[in-house]
Amino acid sequence: MTGRTQKKGAEAARELAPGQSPELLKALHILTRDGQLNADSLRKLKQVNHLARLLAPAIEDVLARFGDPVLVDCGAGKSYLGFVLYELFLAAAGKGTLHAIESRAELVEKARALATRLGFGRMAFEQAEIGAARPPPRVHLVTALHACDTATDDALALAIRHGADHVAVVPCCQAEVAEQLHRAEAPAPLLASLFEHAWHRREFGSHLTNVVRALALEASGYSVTVTELAGWEHSLKNELILGKKVRASDGKARERLFALCEAAGVKPKLVRLLWPARPAPAGLAMDG
Ligand SMILES: C[S@@+](CC[C@H](N)C(=O)[O-])C[C@H]1O[C@@H](n2cnc3c(N)ncnc32)[C@H](O)[C@@H]1O
Repeated sequence: MTGRTQKKGAEAARELAPGQSPELLKALHILTRDGQLNADSLRKLKQVNHLARLLAPAIEDVLARFGDPVLVDCGAGKSYLGFVLYELFLAAAGKGTLHAIESRAELVEKARALATRLGFGRMAFEQAEIGAARPPPRVHLVTALHACDTATDDALALAIRHGADHVAVVPCCQAEVAEQLHRAEAPAPLLASLFEHAWHRREFGSHLTNVVRALALEASGYSVTVTELAGWEHSLKNELILGKKVRASDGKARERLFALCEAAGVKPKLVRLLWPARPAPAGLAMDG
């Protein structure tokens, strides 16, 4: 922690979003008991508050259109994002449910206990793998902030299958597609040189994964915006993919997606989840 990044008292208070209580941030251990912010918690608060600000129009949209909109946070961890969204939007509106999905039991138990202590009665916590989770059949907004590797794909598939009106994911580390690129037998020659080296496979694999995610959302009827979450100084995992459901589906986007996967010789998890019958490219044996 450096002097520049440590924030105390009034300086820390300036990082709070309008309507955000220091008490909640203390309960989440983002603020220390005497109201200070260290470098790590400042980074987390900036990410979460920035995402909350970017999500405001989507949350206001579902609050205006639905009696009890369901917001699902996938790979919730300590549920920082869920608690902040609940306090800023759902508590203020007096309606809406926040459903957090997290695989680690101890994090779920702690978050559940905190919600009870704070009286956040419309927060639900499900201990499950995202792919096996059972949120309500109809959900309205899905978020996944730094859900690891293919957990982001599980979150996107959940959003699409449960009819989410809005989706926002900030992908984390990605390994799956880099490994597929390594095994790809017949990629298009022009593409092959983009991932000849292991370093490039990792970078290109990560980029390709997010391009596939955006196209899969478009194919599923979402208009997509790709932007940055917060400045690079706050996180290297900074790409935000936002989707808004605008039509039933888009066949042209689906064809572009399939052609891209074929040219690169990959079949990322989201494609397997959404189009299971589609064969894998030549030479790429798939096990799930
Ligand atoms: C890097 S943390 C991010 C936590 C939180 N979203 C945040 O930004 O503070 C990723 C979390 O996702 C959870 N996770 C990873 N894969 C998951 C899966 N398939 N199903 C449910 N939770 C998962 C991990 O246990 C971890 O708590």
